[in-house]
Amino acid sequence: MPRLYGLPPAHRGTSAQLGALYPFVVPAPLPSGSCYLGQEASGGLFCFDPWDCYGAGTLTNPNMVVLGQIGRGKSAFVKSFLWRQYLQGRQCWALDPKGEYGALAGAVGAVPLRLGPGLGLRLNPLDLGSHAQDQGHRGGGQVPGTGAGGVRSAHQRRSELLGALLASSLGRQLLPAERAAVDVALAATEALGAVPTLGQVAHELMSPGPGAARDLGTDVEGLRTDGRQVALELRRLVHGDLAGMFDGPSSPGAGLGQGMVVLDLSALYSSPALGLLMVCALGWLQSAMGGAGQDGTRRVVVADEAWAVLSHLPSARWLQATFKLARSYGVANVAVVHRASDLQAVGAEGSEQQRLAQGLLADAETRVVFGQAPGEAAQAAALLGLSHTEQLLVGRLPRGAALWLVGERRYLVRHMLSERERLLVDTDGAMRARAGGPGRAEEGTAGARG
Ligand SMILES: Nc1ncnc2c1ncn2[C@@H]1O[C@H](COP(=O)(O)OP(=O)(O)OP(=O)(O)O)[C@@H](O)[C@H]1O
Ligand SMILES: [Mg+2]
Repeated sequence: MPRLYGLPPAHRGTSAQLGALYPFVVPAPLPSGSCYLGQEASGGLFCFDPWDCYGAGTLTNPNMVVLGQIGRGKSAFVKSFLWRQYLQGRQCWALDPKGEYGALAGAVGAVPLRLGPGLGLRLNPLDLGSHAQDQGHRGGGQVPGTGAGGVRSAHQRRSELLGALLASSLGRQLLPAERAAVDVALAATEALGAVPTLGQVAHELMSPGPGAARDLGTDVEGLRTDGRQVALELRRLVHGDLAGMFDGPSSPGAGLGQGMVVLDLSALYSSPALGLLMVCALGWLQSAMGGAGQDGTRRVVVADEAWAVLSHLPSARWLQATFKLARSYGVANVAVVHRASDLQAVGAEGSEQQRLAQGLLADAETRVVFGQAPGEAAQAAALLGLSHTEQLLVGRLPRGAALWLVGERRYLVRHMLSERERLLVDTDGAMRARAGGPGRAEEGTAGARG
């Protein structure tokens, strides 16, 4: 090689050698065969699949948290991800609090299940499906990291769901006497042989039997007093905000056999009961997963607007427990929130909320960080361990671009949508109608390299 202006001779090398020279500039690609999502900042294609990454050891769990300011493209990404996963034969279930996944469901010939007062659809969150039902009160369903010896029974799962619902609804922890009263009321309802319902548990709490009272070393009147507050709260739930939706057996035909299932919760989007509604609906989805570990189906379960569940500590704790079930159920959970503070409820430094946020993130090793307001970017950086440069970057990301944290790896990605997908993900209709213009959908993708 000739020398140029007295510089040392140029060095020629292969692209593999160059990769070694710049090991921190271009991240290693994720396992091949994955689902294509967009363009990585270095120019390459960005592909991601939670199961491929898990299989290759890049991730130790398949769950994902998606964060970003309003309108940055979180739901658009999630919908296109579901669409592409569906095309690979995966089953996709989505909780849709804003009623915006209908076009996606329609594209595969599915009809969203609309849940709301007077809409006629009823789901029983205590119905754990035939697999779990067989386990009954005796225990079953190997679940890592939960309960003594890692075994959780159907009774325990129902009891946890009831505890989370009641504590969220009451806005406080259940007292030990209340927890015990709920537990024996649930057991008494289960002993009847049929699938228990929330209404039956409320009834049992109001009118406990002498056997249940004896079990707890009290008399019937004492047990009724212990359970009265929670009974009234449960009654209020099934007769009040959530009336007709969760009290009773699931509606026939409300099965989850289709490849794409969308639960449209928009009828209660602005209600304070949205979080409870989501817990009940997720509980019902969870119940259907009882046998999923055995059937080999890979499922993506999305909770869009998951801040509504995370805003109450008991339901947030319950959500984290469901994240822990992911590997045993073959499920990749996706929770969509606006900002890092959504993960921390309203907890002070060192509080349970803080630990919960850390725990939830530990159970969701894939974090997709869309643009954050500068103030929020600092909080996201602290929680997600972003460098100063990454913090500045997430404060400036345009619509459709996100910083991906996949285990220890980082990728800056511009999500690409096909023409067909654009029609499925568009949520700007109202903005366009008001502005009378062509909308903003193009703006983000144009300069999305950030
Ligand atoms: N990668 C992209 N390319 C083109 N358009 C996009 C892209 N991502 C999002 N959009 C458009 O931006 C609009 C807003 O996106 P989206 O609904 O996903 O925002 P969001 O972050 O979920 O907002 P919110 O917090 O209000 O739910 C949609 O109309 C969508 O079509
Ligand atoms: Mg959205």
